[in-house]
Amino acid sequence: MARNQDKAGTATADTRKFYVRSYGCQMNVYDAQRMADTLARDGMTETETPETADLIILNTCHIREKAAEKVYSELGRMRVLKQQAAEQDRRLTIAVAGCVAQAEGAEILRRAPAVDLVVGSQSYHKLPELIAKAVNEPVVETEFPVEDKFDQLAPPTKQAIRARGVSAFVTVQEGCDKFCTFCVVPYTRGAEVSRPLAKIVADVKRLASAGVREITLIGQNVNAYHGEGPDGRPASLAQLLYAVAEVPGVARLRYTTSHPRDMGDDLIAAHRDLAALMPQLHLPVQSGSDRILAAMNRRHTHADYLDVIARLRDACPDIALTSDFIVGFPGETEADFRDTLKLIDAVRYSGAFYFKYSARPGTPAAELEDQISEEEKSERLARLQDAIERDRKAFNDLCRGRTVDVLFEKTGRLSGQIVGRTPYLQTVQVMALENLIGQIAPVTITDVGTNSLFGALASPGNARSEELLEMQQA
Ligand code: 5AD
Ligand code: SF4
Repeated sequence: MARNQDKAGTATADTRKFYVRSYGCQMNVYDAQRMADTLARDGMTETETPETADLIILNTCHIREKAAEKVYSELGRMRVLKQQAAEQDRRLTIAVAGCVAQAEGAEILRRAPAVDLVVGSQSYHKLPELIAKAVNEPVVETEFPVEDKFDQLAPPTKQAIRARGVSAFVTVQEGCDKFCTFCVVPYTRGAEVSRPLAKIVADVKRLASAGVREITLIGQNVNAYHGEGPDGRPASLAQLLYAVAEVPGVARLRYTTSHPRDMGDDLIAAHRDLAALMPQLHLPVQSGSDRILAAMNRRHTHADYLDVIARLRDACPDIALTSDFIVGFPGETEADFRDTLKLIDAVRYSGAFYFKYSARPGTPAAELEDQISEEEKSERLARLQDAIERDRKAFNDLCRGRTVDVLFEKTGRLSGQIVGRTPYLQTVQVMALENLIGQIAPVTITDVGTNSLFGALASPGNARSEELLEMQQA
């Protein structure tokens, strides 16, 4: 495509393109969208190809060593792109955002001199100004400013919302005060801050009026939400969920990620009483050993966690549960690990994420003696994976032959196929017309694959006849 050039040979404002690559958690996915909205308001357009970009942002994750190191190998590739751009007389600005930026700051410039801008997650609203500054010299901005960045970040346009699909994340809470001894989040994202309820409802209204049907409220410790409520007093996550459920067009609600200690009675009751709240919950436990849970500063026991699960199942008998696990935390013995397997057997998760413990600089657990060998971590991870996969498969098998509501999100890989999610967050592939995207329809599950389910529309009125399919594929 021809580029508009001004006299100095640089791209003019309306053709400047940016490319964002996000790593890590949903919070980063959401932040990347807010950055994109802010840059779009500043006249830039998003590109899917880094080769055509004038600005590349790596939105990084610091949670485990592997994630953090990935940034540097990626920056190596970006340096080559920067050289190529310079050979074409084009300036490419490279920015590092996210948690590595927050944690490592100026150290990034030392290890990767091609970087022009290091920007922490609390300063994204200043991006246009920081990018302009970085033209002259490298800029590092990792302060935790006092102003509310959400008040200044640009809201998405209707067009951007539509392009992002029928399911959207909304940040309601940021940061964490829990200080689990293995975790960098309290240092990279700072203290827990909740947004006022009215602002979140306004965001949800904007999304719903552009066609979003499913809202996932996100926060590092989302169920500790305590934003200002309509009466000026702190509102709980349950109150927020009820308020968001009132917004016309919102059919499904979810929230993530939660801490077992903050599963309040009103939140558990919402799983019984609030129809829009989906029967699925990600509730990380990390370990099933009381000794390790104490060393992790989780401030709950194996039994406390099972008690929360029992209360949730009492309120919502079909609730599907997922979790995060860490194997090989310092001092973890075979007996400790067996306690984790016991907990898994008791809960029967529908899925989980599992990680080998990774010592993170600055966290208390990194200083502990008795670090576990890589071999032992790998061996435990494989056993844990077997247990989780066994339960995930059993959960999916239970769905075979059942009819569940599916929210259709996008077209599938095969022609004539569309893809959606069950209330339990499983992916389902269905042969059906594209105009069902954005709608919820009952689907009978006919087959269970490794990563998704297969089904057929239960209401024949919408079903695509074989004949029609053949015609369309011809
Ligand atoms: N090592 C391994 N896994 C970790 N997590 C957080 N910190 C570490 C670490 N130092 C995992 C936890 C958390 C998830 C987001 O990442 O399981 O819930
Ligand atoms: Fe990290 Fe623990 Fe906070 Fe989760 S609750 S973000 S694991 S410190």
